[in-house]
Amino acid sequence: MLLKIAIIIGTRPEITKMAPVIRALETRNADFFILHTGQHYSYNLDGVFFEQLKLPPAKYNIEAGSGSHAEQTARILVGVEKVLQEESPYIVLVEGDTNSVFASALAAVKLRIKVGHVEAGLRSYDRSMPEEINRALTDHCSDYLFAPTEKAKAILLGEGIPEEKISVTGNTIVDAVYQNLKIAQEQSDTLDNLRVAPGEYFLVTLHRQENVDNQARFASILEGLDKVAAKFGLPVIYPIHPHSRKRMKEFNLKGFNLTLIEPVDFFSFLQLENNARLVLTDSGGVQEEACILKVPCVTLRDNTERPETIEVGANILAGALSDKILECVRLMLGKESDWQNPFGDGKAGERIVSIITGGFNG
Ligand code: UD1
Ligand code: UDP
Repeated sequence: MLLKIAIIIGTRPEITKMAPVIRALETRNADFFILHTGQHYSYNLDGVFFEQLKLPPAKYNIEAGSGSHAEQTARILVGVEKVLQEESPYIVLVEGDTNSVFASALAAVKLRIKVGHVEAGLRSYDRSMPEEINRALTDHCSDYLFAPTEKAKAILLGEGIPEEKISVTGNTIVDAVYQNLKIAQEQSDTLDNLRVAPGEYFLVTLHRQENVDNQARFASILEGLDKVAAKFGLPVIYPIHPHSRKRMKEFNLKGFNLTLIEPVDFFSFLQLENNARLVLTDSGGVQEEACILKVPCVTLRDNTERPETIEVGANILAGALSDKILECVRLMLGKESDWQNPFGDGKAGERIVSIITGGFNG
């Protein structure tokens, strides 16, 4: 008998990183359905990824939308519980560290439905980040913990999670990059549209609550980006998350040397990352992608739950001080991009599906 699997996603990174798992489920004709929490709903944070990655439509969208942490988490918890009661899947798969992930895992475990956490065992050890709470609690609700690296597995073991629940699979973002980079290169003309040449621009993303909800910190980072643009005489392209745009307006902040654009689709973003001189970001997924694509990265945070990127020499923590950002860019530009990708071989999605449906030998 086929086991029924519920794939729950809610935001942009969950879609890009769950796509390889969905692809592997389709290949095996597995019995699965997609439940969308509706945490992201704007077309450029949601629909465009389903279209581009050719994902089957969500069977359910509970339209939780935006709100305070409690409101959003509570709406997802209630909505997901209803669907799970109706569908009674054997297992729920969630990916990452958003409110959608934790609320869904909590709803499932209380119904005694098994939970599989893709990208388990990441820790920044910074409890002021909502994502840190979400990822730790999700791990402790889970029956299957898919750790991307041995380091992540060691963290889980250190927290007392039994070894038999943990599998080191690699990160599905490697699968997503390998599966889509060539198509991105063929199909995206985003560099031409932006009138930039390969290696002749910086790429920025910045959306994390601890950066953009803090006026002084956001202003200081923008000042740093301005300094980078002026010092190196190159455009700085910033596809800006709607949350950051809202805060920029509210705080009346400007990036004088920045090219602000709307969030772009996955193929365009891969193309922009792959050809950037260097990436500056506070995103988790973007730190990983830059490392995989061998593009140096400066992380606009004080810590990271992706220390592997720093250990291999692909990434550096700059924090939010403008001069430190400039200095970190200078340092990273002086290095060779000769590191090894620490996140796996691009078969994480297949491994995860084999583990839950039985037997993976690769
Ligand atoms: C969420 C995740 C974050 C992840 C990010 C991926 C949490 C706590 N945060 O942050 O970990 O890195 O997604 O991009 O789960 N908005 C829109 N359109 C949308 C969705 C949101 O305009 O489709 C705007 C709304 O003004 C909303 C704000 O963005 O209030 C924040 O959205 P929210 O879902 O709370 O968090 P993100 O910042 O997107
Ligand atoms: N991304 C995208 N367009 C953009 C910015 C990001 O397609 O304009 C993709 C990126 O390739 C990565 C994912 O979105 O796969 C990362 O999402 P985000 O930075 O929002 O979340 P995080 O990884 O920080 O949770």
